[in-house]
Amino acid sequence: MTRSVLFVFGTRPEAIKMAPVIERVRDHDGLRAVVAVTAQHREMLDQVLELFGIVPDFDLDLMRDRQLPEEVLARAVTALSALIRDTQPDIVLVQGDTTTTLAGALAGFYAHVPVGHLEAGLRTGNLASPFPEEANRRLVSQLAALSFAPTRHAADRLLAEGADPASVIVTGNTVVDAVTEVATRAATLPPELAALVSGERRLAVVTLHRRESWGEPLEQACLGVRDVLDAVSDLVVVLPVHRNPVVSEVVERVLGDHERAVLTDPLGYLEFVQLLKACTIVLSDSGGLQEEAAALGKPLLLLRETTERPEGAEAGTLKLVGTDRSAIARETQALLSDADAYRAMSEAPNPFGDGRASERIVAAIEEFLA
Ligand code: UD1
Ligand code: UDP
Repeated sequence: MTRSVLFVFGTRPEAIKMAPVIERVRDHDGLRAVVAVTAQHREMLDQVLELFGIVPDFDLDLMRDRQLPEEVLARAVTALSALIRDTQPDIVLVQGDTTTTLAGALAGFYAHVPVGHLEAGLRTGNLASPFPEEANRRLVSQLAALSFAPTRHAADRLLAEGADPASVIVTGNTVVDAVTEVATRAATLPPELAALVSGERRLAVVTLHRRESWGEPLEQACLGVRDVLDAVSDLVVVLPVHRNPVVSEVVERVLGDHERAVLTDPLGYLEFVQLLKACTIVLSDSGGLQEEAAALGKPLLLLRETTERPEGAEAGTLKLVGTDRSAIARETQALLSDADAYRAMSEAPNPFGDGRASERIVAAIEEFLA
């Protein structure tokens, strides 16, 4: 009997991390992949769907300009609940900690369909940071029948919170599967980026978007990046600007006129991974980039006050720097001028997975549905 697996996601990072699992379910004789996207993100989601050849079976097309999480949640949970009741999947899979993740888990719960949670067990211990993701992932853990923990540490967090040990499976993070596969593909970069990759200067990839940093922390982080550029004359920054206008207004105002800051639209994942491979250093507040940088051996300075991925800090692949302007300038310059410290970070072992997470997840789903 063929069992149906409903994938629910809506943003760029969820799509990247779901893609290897969708591919594996598609190749599985006994399982059928059904894809429902909320399109909490529109353009940034579509870039990923196209790269991985995913055509959604259902597209809720929910994104609105400057949307609030509560609005997205209300619309997504209503539409997804109806969709799950109509389609009666055997399991609903959600990924990570976005509003779509919470909506998908709630909708599965209301429709009495078991929920599987990818990237379960990440915690900062601080409900306000990242906001609202720390709450989302804790709530989803309460609803999940299966929790796919990327690391032993994440699994231990779940067990300490009282999760049933039989429901927690350590799998690795699927982003390692995605990034290692995409890193082997050939890509043609637009000329302005190709010149940077093959150029004389060192390249820093920078991304910023977190809600808890909006306002002064984001402004300070951008000023810190500007100070780094002023202090390190052979450095060029590439910063693909998040589509969120609250973010882009600040980034463009503070960095837009610097001759060695290249601000671009969000890049396709294929192009972005090429830049990551070519860069010297990553400065970011992203979740997924903490894992990808580790997988590619690129030191990452984390422009946030907390991380739910302490494995990276412990292994030495990332360093928590915060959003203070002078700390960003100081830490970046220190790393760029200390060959031993740089080598230690770039050669630190990747604690986030071995590229076989999707294989383990699909095996566990198969066993659960049997
Ligand atoms: C959301 C997730 C966050 C994730 C991030 C990835 C929540 C609460 N937050 O951030 O965990 O790290 O996505 O990027 O779910 N926009 C576009 N086109 C796009 C995408 C966004 O125009 O393709 C603009 C829209 O104006 C939209 C705004 O960006 O309203 C914010 O999108 P939203 O999904 O709400 O972003 P965040 O909540 O900041
Ligand atoms: N990414 C991308 N193009 C870009 C910038 C980032 O494809 O221009 C990828 C990046 O490699 C990572 C993901 O998008 O896999 C991170 O998304 P984001 O920072 O929006 O979300 P987070 O990981 O913080 O949830």
